[in-house]
Amino acid sequence: MAQSDATKTGNAIVSDALAGARRRWLVTGAAGFIGSHLIETLLAAGQDVVSLDNLATGHLRNFDHVRASVGEDAWGRHRFIQGDIRDLAACREACEGADFVLHQAALGSVPRSIAEPLDSHASNVNGSLNMLVAARDAKVRRLVYASSSSVYGDHPGLPKVEDSIGRPLSPYAVTKYVNELYASVFCRTYGLPVIGLRYFNVFGARQDPAGPYAAVIPRWVKALLAGEPVKIFGDGETSRDFCYVKNVVQMNLLAAIGESSEAVDQVYNVAVNQRTSLNLLFRELCELLGVEATPEYQDFRPGDVRHSLADISKAQRLLGYAPTHDLRTGLAEALRWYVAEYAPTDARS
Ligand SMILES: NC(=O)c1ccc[n+]([C@@H]2O[C@H](COP(=O)([O-])OP(=O)(O)OC[C@H]3O[C@@H](n4cnc5c(N)ncnc54)[C@H](O)[C@@H]3O)[C@@H](O)[C@H]2O)c1
Repeated sequence: MAQSDATKTGNAIVSDALAGARRRWLVTGAAGFIGSHLIETLLAAGQDVVSLDNLATGHLRNFDHVRASVGEDAWGRHRFIQGDIRDLAACREACEGADFVLHQAALGSVPRSIAEPLDSHASNVNGSLNMLVAARDAKVRRLVYASSSSVYGDHPGLPKVEDSIGRPLSPYAVTKYVNELYASVFCRTYGLPVIGLRYFNVFGARQDPAGPYAAVIPRWVKALLAGEPVKIFGDGETSRDFCYVKNVVQMNLLAAIGESSEAVDQVYNVAVNQRTSLNLLFRELCELLGVEATPEYQDFRPGDVRHSLADISKAQRLLGYAPTHDLRTGLAEALRWYVAEYAPTDARS
């Protein structure tokens, strides 16, 4: 990959590096929300992409969206392996010849992990360990993996700084913390270059609004578009650092191509350093969608962290991270997609 100019940041570093070389990327969880944005950006930038996904929570329709967006030529550089990261042979097949691995596959959701801890453990811990073994043996240049802000657990500090974490509050948080421990050991023991990304609440097009474990933004947007009630768990003053998916894509690519050895074997917060309460989020969504609604308040959910806000200075300093979207600009883009997909036909403009 091309040497990046020290004065450049964010997407400028990424586009220089991707323009310089055609590489093979493995994206696990590519049929999911974040994975599908990663493959879309990589294919549009002329890269070769292998996807590994078992379609547990991902959808083939996400590939249809990517294909329509990048065009047939670019789509021809994509190979999909329908397989499971709990199966080491599938991980090995997918890693073969890969330069970079962006490991996203996991069962998300704190409540799901509380209801089904064995499932979360099997995919998130055993599956990720398989991916580390396969990536090590395939001698990939770097493995970047999705961790989570849930690792901060009950640590009261705000903003969250990478080296101060508390006790996990859910099985999901444990699985993500175990990922970080294993990844670091694979770096120090076997020399596998790894970088972990602690995503804070990510949102954007293609995030699934369906089912009991849907994330708050797509769930609320779909309800508001359908004129259905919106439920807020707790008093609405719970806060989050909502992060638009394009910022997450940028961080994955910076983490993969970054050439500083100091940046490797590290974890990074991925967010925008902007704290928004659920009440404010609700008002923003109503305003952007042009609807009037009143939320229904319910009990707090077990396992949920009360406040979340990221310090992003480590990612800025070591990787040149420069988020392009805040909550408002990210929502404006994302809502165009949700309206096109989910608004009743007569409400679409
Ligand atoms: N979305 C967020 O706000 C957020 C926050 C923190 C961390 N993360 C992490 O980011 C990653 C991507 O999340 P997402 O929001 O895109 O979720 P998603 O559910 O849309 O995508 C996850 C993908 O992984 C696949 N998958 C699950 N188990 C698998 C297995 N055993 N084998 C192969 N594929 C499997 C699913 O089918 C799905 O396509 C996950 O690791 C998640 O834990 C997401």
